[in-house]
Amino acid sequence: MSIHLEAKKGDIAPRVILPGDPLRAEYIAKRFLKDTVCYNRVRGMLGFTGTYNGVPVSVQGSGMGLPSLSIYVHELLHEYGVTSILRAGSCGALSEKLKPYDIVLAQSASTDSAMNRIRFSGMDFAPCADFGLLQSAFEVCNENGVIPYVGSVFSTDSFYHPVRDNWKLWAEYGTLAIEMESSALYTLCARHHVSSLSVLTVSDSLVTGESTSSIERERSFDRMAHICLETCTKTV
Ligand code: HPA
Repeated sequence: MSIHLEAKKGDIAPRVILPGDPLRAEYIAKRFLKDTVCYNRVRGMLGFTGTYNGVPVSVQGSGMGLPSLSIYVHELLHEYGVTSILRAGSCGALSEKLKPYDIVLAQSASTDSAMNRIRFSGMDFAPCADFGLLQSAFEVCNENGVIPYVGSVFSTDSFYHPVRDNWKLWAEYGTLAIEMESSALYTLCARHHVSSLSVLTVSDSLVTGESTSSIERERSFDRMAHICLETCTKTV
């Protein structure tokens, strides 16, 4: 048991899929996994372990934002010995190339959060995805007729930023999308030599103002969950 996860050692698989929303963790577990067991209900941050194509996989909610994700990822890394974590999340497009439902594989993650400045005594760390997972996810996408966007994302602390259009600075530097977790995931996993990758679906565009309908969101979420599960069970 850890402070926020009531799982016993061995209850959580080495491969973890990490959606922000705990109900999405439940959805993935029930829809895609076999022999599923719920190992966590603390604070409603549901976590499940089952098998996918015979391989043990866990699905754990992370909550929204870098601090919430950091709590769960810290405990997964310190207490449960996980070896790979794939975030399955949503993002807002910062480039007009990206349309709702497109898939982004986050190669690197910039941030406005102070978490890494505190960790690195004011210096800048460059959080990036594991290349093996990135390559596998890219191949899985192609095998499934999906052409993903691969590039940098911006992990922000503020969904409602007081400075309107502040995202444009990041867009000028080629950042593909905005979300709220990947920078922390990549940093914590790097510290533990654990591979991580964020697979994101575009839910809205800050460039055009487009957003997605709930039915389509569910369908595109299935596609993203499938990509994550195939990727994590394909890699060691
Ligand atoms: N900001 C932060 N995170 C997001 C957004 C956004 O506009 N859209 C989807 N995730």
